[in-house]
Amino acid sequence: MRYLVTAALPYANGPIHLGHLAGCYLPADIFVRWLKARGEEVLLICGTDEHGVAIELRARKEGCTPMELVDRYYTQIKKSFDDFGIEFSHFSRTSRPIHHETASNFFLSLYEKGVFEERVTEQFYDVEAGQFLADRYILGVCPRCSYDQAYGDQCERCGSSLSPEELIQPRSALSGATPVRRSTRNWFLPMDKLAEGKVFRAYAERVVNWRTHVRGQFNSWINQGLMARSMTRDLNWGIPVPLKGAEGKVLYVWFDAPIGYISATREYFQLQGGAHNEEAWKTWWQSPDTQLVHFIGKDNIVFHTIIFPMILAEHGSYVLPAQVPANEFLNLEGEKISTSRNHAIWLHEYLVDLPGRQDELRYVLTAIAPESKDSDFTWLDYQARVNNELVAILGNFVNRVMVLSHKFCGGRVPDAASMNALPPELQPALEACWFEIDSARAELYALLSEYRLREAQAAMMRLSRAGNKFLAETEPWKRVKEDPQTASGILYVGLQVCAHLAVASTPFLPSTAQKISGQLGWTARTAESDRNWWTDCAVAPGQRARHNPHLLAAEQVLGAAAHLFTPITDEQLQPLRDRLMRSSTPVSHATGASAQFSMKESDKENKESDKENKENNMEMDEKQFVPVKPEVAYPDFEKLDLRVAQIKSAERVEGADKLLKLGIDLGFEQRVVVSGIAQHFDPEGLVGLKVVLLANLAPRKIRGQMSQGMILLAENVDGRLVFAKPDEDADPGAVIR
Ligand code: 2FM
Ligand code: ZN
Repeated sequence: MRYLVTAALPYANGPIHLGHLAGCYLPADIFVRWLKARGEEVLLICGTDEHGVAIELRARKEGCTPMELVDRYYTQIKKSFDDFGIEFSHFSRTSRPIHHETASNFFLSLYEKGVFEERVTEQFYDVEAGQFLADRYILGVCPRCSYDQAYGDQCERCGSSLSPEELIQPRSALSGATPVRRSTRNWFLPMDKLAEGKVFRAYAERVVNWRTHVRGQFNSWINQGLMARSMTRDLNWGIPVPLKGAEGKVLYVWFDAPIGYISATREYFQLQGGAHNEEAWKTWWQSPDTQLVHFIGKDNIVFHTIIFPMILAEHGSYVLPAQVPANEFLNLEGEKISTSRNHAIWLHEYLVDLPGRQDELRYVLTAIAPESKDSDFTWLDYQARVNNELVAILGNFVNRVMVLSHKFCGGRVPDAASMNALPPELQPALEACWFEIDSARAELYALLSEYRLREAQAAMMRLSRAGNKFLAETEPWKRVKEDPQTASGILYVGLQVCAHLAVASTPFLPSTAQKISGQLGWTARTAESDRNWWTDCAVAPGQRARHNPHLLAAEQVLGAAAHLFTPITDEQLQPLRDRLMRSSTPVSHATGASAQFSMKESDKENKESDKENKENNMEMDEKQFVPVKPEVAYPDFEKLDLRVAQIKSAERVEGADKLLKLGIDLGFEQRVVVSGIAQHFDPEGLVGLKVVLLANLAPRKIRGQMSQGMILLAENVDGRLVFAKPDEDADPGAVIR
């Protein structure tokens, strides 16, 4: 089977953070490393997405040209991927001529087939800036969640895909002006009609077996009824529409970007040289025995499961995706990752803080991979997983075997005869150990085949647990004096388990896998032996089978023992936690007189976006009331436990100029709440005040202090922050409903 694997082309408008890595690049790399180890024919294709409004806006903000911007970020992004061992077969750019040519030809081919509908429609136009306002050039209030910074193509708070006309109170991202409507001609993909096409319908059958949330989004789009979507834009930055009379228009970035997978494949083969290579890429893209797999994040699902497949189907020569294993989102310390608020961990910064710890991050991100629901990265969990799992289990096992083998076996793999002579009382432990190897292999194969990478990594770790258990049960260090041959037999087994771990960990922890091989002095490890390991395991998980567990030859000279991992200390971690807290300290804020929770994420986003808007001169003159949010059912409201509470003490938090630590009396118990209101109130004036507390909010550590609830505040129309206060007669602890 031939696998053509792609990872979403990142926009070249900023560096790469943890969310990106966990979202699609790390999973794609693991999957492809596994396919390669299995001996499959595989390509992993990626590159930077260098068109679109996001790029233009960022360039404006940074005061450079779009080309200067993408040049800079292309280099930085590529380096980050290299640093983390993401092994692309080819990493290209959509600004390259080969991509412009491929995308233009693709467009023309669909145009000539009559796929597009040419329509004159009214689009938003900024008279001041003299420009049409496509996609992110227009902002407004989201009709679904009321977020007032929603873009013309998407609301980043609720994830809804939008069109500019849906925005409430639209405004230009360039001048802040209210746009007017002007007629313009564009070329639309009639998605409603194309969804009925034979090729697309046959493809849609596959989606049934995909991840629940991928299938869910796909079905929801199809069931809502698809609408025609313009594949061209009235913009300057991008690939010019290759038609007469289309001057000043470019291809929609979501039309050209996925075609970037094709042009990058073409470029890859061009770079290989040789006469056949101009045709070779077609074998990959156009032959029915290619499995096309797109690794993406959940915000890209509609484009990869509907729009791109539709485009491929209409062209007629291309394969359609066999799988789209999209991940959900990775949050950070309980909050959405936000580049605008700098609530993110950037890969290049991680390596400065924790040099050489790439595999540690790969491990943790895979252990918490958001494969079926959003997950949360916290520094404390990172530390715990590194110290309690990598150091204490995998690292400890390999190190114990290596040190003992040097000590008791002269630094060589003992003779297999010593294992065969293990006394009867050790046979059950030996059997169990071999069984674990077999079942780990079978499980790994089954799980990786189903794109369940998180569980697959856990299966690899179970093997090192089994190794530790075997050592604990057989205690070679106690036996060695009286029975050195048994000790050798035990270490023979231990060394074989290490070799199995070297193979099993390769997709997940490539440099650790190499280190284990190096320590074992395993020069005979070959692509072929790895291939057998991964493929010769056609056993259902849990079924007892016996594969050859002997990977290392007797007498093989071992390399030096060295720790694979070192623990992360509190001292190393604290500055990183502090920095994250400092760079993204929340503040209560809202536009309009709506009740607010004091530490609410959305407020922080608003605040930050407001700041950016001011910088861009696009603050609205008139104070607007926030529209009422979508309806909720009473049971949803009932889940919130709102109580009358009294502030008993209030003090500033050292080193955090926005935070107050409040001692709260709930009548039946005392609590501490950390609130981002220090810049709005003097602590002295708050003591004795009765407030409304959201009492059942999950506790959260802020600046090392557990915060147990959230105080409700409102912002007046004049911008003053005030407490939502209960009646003076209300007793602390009273339920508000
Ligand atoms: O969401 C993004 O970052 C897009 N640049 C992904 C594009 S994926 C592919 F279609 F190119
Ligand atoms: Zn929204």
